[in-house]
Order: sequence, then structure tokens, then C-alpha cells
Amino acid sequence: MIARRAFLQSAACLAPAAFRLSAAEEPLRVHAAAHGLLYGAAANYRALQNDSDYSAHFAEECNLLVPENVLKWSTVHPEPQRFDFVPGDFLARFGAGHEIQMRGHTLVWHEQLPRWFAETVTKENAREYLETHIHTVMGHYQGRMHSWDVVNEAIHPPDGCDDGLRKTPWLELLGPEYLEIAYTAAAAADGHALAGYNDYGLDYQTPEQEAKRMAVLALLRRLKKQKIPIQAFGMQAHLSAAQQKNFQPQVLRRFLGEIAGLGLKILITEMDVSDADLPADTEARDRAVAEVYERYLTAALAEPAVVAVLTWGLTDKYTWLAHRRADAAPARVLPLDVEFQRKPAWYAIAKALDTRR
Ligand code: XIL
Repeated sequence: MIARRAFLQSAACLAPAAFRLSAAEEPLRVHAAAHGLLYGAAANYRALQNDSDYSAHFAEECNLLVPENVLKWSTVHPEPQRFDFVPGDFLARFGAGHEIQMRGHTLVWHEQLPRWFAETVTKENAREYLETHIHTVMGHYQGRMHSWDVVNEAIHPPDGCDDGLRKTPWLELLGPEYLEIAYTAAAAADGHALAGYNDYGLDYQTPEQEAKRMAVLALLRRLKKQKIPIQAFGMQAHLSAAQQKNFQPQVLRRFLGEIAGLGLKILITEMDVSDADLPADTEARDRAVAEVYERYLTAALAEPAVVAVLTWGLTDKYTWLAHRRADAAPARVLPLDVEFQRKPAWYAIAKALDTRR
């Protein structure tokens, strides 16, 4: 590994001023750190193993990493009595080797459950499976995680369940108490990592998203009131350029302010900007996507409780939004393009980080 900091330091000492990086061109982690923030991205395990350009840019830009998939149940808990930490440990070693903090995603979710789950987990044994999973996975990384998405996407008012809870296997197996069980187990497994609640669809001024914001706030209020150990809130921020007309900065500000008022730290955990409904022209598309990043992050970062910004991927080469356009044009949704060049979105994120006081 070429120690990136040593390289930058020696470059800064030896190079004449003209060769130094201008402040604006510093990597995103430097923009973030200058304002007491972290910048990171969801890491693609296979790419980090096989694509050295990807890992070099990841190490250059990020000081926070979250595994995109490999700490989900389907990967980390492949059989009822077996856990697989090989991919997660690879990412943890990569992070530790590059002074990149790591966060965990995710312990309780209704998706990416292993095949054995439905036929094995019953109302009788669900609590034990959940607690064992949390103790084993969090315990494995104890003291090494910045934060964990303990529960992911538990709110979905259209399902019609009490308190806006999503109709998930966990709700059906354990009732609403599954949240309390999860956070209590998390606190016992690693009292050091921030225990978070993470969700999406909270960004726009539409009736559906307003209802979801209210339900999420009510849930967090209930957990705090019951003294359930939770310290962080993750705003996924999967945005869409076509929805920009429904973005109102003051609505976002107010929502994040209410969450901060509960004493929770806030992370923007999975930001990306879908370009699926934008015209094909690359420059216009890049401009529109960049504007969404800048306006959203500028509003979010005005809330002092926000401590970190993560994008859901770093480069358009590896994004879950790859094949969403009707014209099949390659997606341009993340800070770097497929050749790892900085796009207007990169500069928009840097600029928004710099607005932080
Ligand atoms: C996505 C991954 O990016 C995909 O590779 C995978 O196929 C499905 O999950 N909300 C979350 C993330 O919390 O875990 C999801 O990640 C994206 C939506």
C-alpha cells in the first residue's frame, strides 16, 4: 500500500506551491474533515478485491466505508448455525489499512434474508435468532465500527400496520417489540458503535413522504421515551433528479432539526441521485444531478447534528442504479464517472461540505 497521507505530506513539503493541490481539488474526505465531518461510500466487495483503480480512488476520497452488501444476513449468515465474515473482514482490513472508519449495514431488514430464513425462523425461536445474529455479527466487529444501521426501513405507512410499521417478517414473528429487542441486543454487543435507525423516502414534500416522516419521528420519539439505546439516525437520501420540484430545503431542515432535538446524531447514509428520467445529454444530465447533490447537502449540513455524508457507491462503474434508463445510456449518478474522473456531482458535494460551519 502506498501510504496516501505520507504521499500527500511529502508532496506538500517538497513540491513548489504551484504543484500543490488547490484546496478545492483536495479529496472529499479532506473537505469533510476540514469541517469536522466524515465522507464515505458504500464499498463494492468484488471491485475492491479486483479493481485496483477502484480501491485507489476509494482510499483517496473516503475516510468512512460501509459494505454495500456483505454484512447483510444473506451473506454474513449463510446457514442457520454458520456465519461468514470473510468478505466483511476484507473490507475491515482495507479500512484499517487506509485510516478509513467503517460502519455496519445492517442487522434487521426485511430484504436480503437468506433462503433458510423463512423455513427455519418461527415465532418461537425468532427472538433467539435475532439476538444471536446481533451478538455474533456486532460482537465480531466490536470496537471497530463507527456506527451500525441496527434497524433498516421499518416504517411503511401504506402497509396499514399500527404506528406506520412495515409489514416485515420481524413484525410478524415478534410484533413491534422487535425494535426494542434489536437495540437492546446491539447495546450489549458493542456499546461503542453508534446504534442507528436508517430509512429512505423522507426527502420530498409529497403527502406520502410527509406521512412517512411523521411515522419515523413518532417511532424515534417512542424509542427515546422508552430509553431504548439508540444514538443515530441514517437518512438514506436515495434521490431522483426528476423529483427535484418536490424538494424543499426548509422541510428537510425542519425534519433533521426534530431528529437532532431527540439527541440523535444524523448521518446521510446512502446518497445517490437517479438520472433515470433525465434527457440523455451528458452535460445537462451531470448539471442536473450535481444541483440535486448541492441543494440537498447544503440544506442537510446546516443541521449541526449531521456528522457524516456517504454516497451509495463512489463511481458510476459500480452502482445499483446502473440499468434504470429507458434509453440504456450509462447512469451518471455518483461523484466519479466510470473512468474515475470527477464529475460535476463531485464538485457539488465538495462545495456543500465546505458550506458547513
Ligand atoms: C442495495 C444494493 O446496492 C444492491 O447491490 C442490492 O442488490 C440490493 O440492495 N437501501 C438499503 C441498501 O438500505 O442496503 C440497498 O442496497 C439500497 C436501498
